[in-house]
Amino acid sequence: MNPEIKRGNYAKEKGEVILREHEYDGIQEFDQKLPNWWLFTFYGAIVWFVVYWGLYYHSNVYQTDQEKIIAQVGALQEKKDAELAATLASLDDETLIGKWSTDPAIVAAGEATYMVNCVACHAADLSATMDVAGNKIPLPGRALNDGVWEHGGKPMDVFKIINEGTPEGSTGLNGAKMQAWGQMLSPKQVAEVTAYLISRNSAEFAN
Ligand code: HEC
Repeated sequence: MNPEIKRGNYAKEKGEVILREHEYDGIQEFDQKLPNWWLFTFYGAIVWFVVYWGLYYHSNVYQTDQEKIIAQVGALQEKKDAELAATLASLDDETLIGKWSTDPAIVAAGEATYMVNCVACHAADLSATMDVAGNKIPLPGRALNDGVWEHGGKPMDVFKIINEGTPEGSTGLNGAKMQAWGQMLSPKQVAEVTAYLISRNSAEFAN
């Protein structure tokens, strides 16, 4: 390459094309000065990056999306915790049996929640079995109408297992564990579905 030839406008004015010395697989590269408008958008982007990085990641001026999500999830969790505390404050075994499980509106709401979220594993008749051509096929959940309450037979025990799911350290039923429904349902909905289960076992809970 002729070292006399300068880069940039000079070559352009002369109508010359400057090529770099290397060549790979027959491909060569131009050696032209980039236009100023392009260079300044490039420098501008670098400056913008530094400013953005400082403001979002190293100061409290702006929050990143991740920080916003963490804050919002935290606020939601606080709200849920407060709701649960309020529900628990007004809920006990006697209230669940005497008031909630005898109130048709509450029981109907609980049944609706049950039919959407629980039938798949516990069955509409609470037997945790499914009829297939006359055979009773077991479903993953425990029977909720057999008088056996593996995790405690007091109404608040039932509320707790639904709200919190299989307790830590427990192996579940044949290895199947139940999720914490309090993650999906409001405390009120958990109380309603508990009331529904009590109403379906009313003779047992009357004692
Ligand atoms: C994906 C299957 C599945 C769904 C859906 C499910 N459960 Fe369960 N449930 C289980 C399993 C498995 C167990 C046994 C867990 C254990 O023993 O640790 C269980 C246990 C229970 C128990 C405890 C029974 C006992 O003997 O103490 C109650 C109460 C209960 N479920 C209610 C519900 C309610 C109410 C819903 C709906 C909101 C629901 N379940 C939805 C699988 C399910």
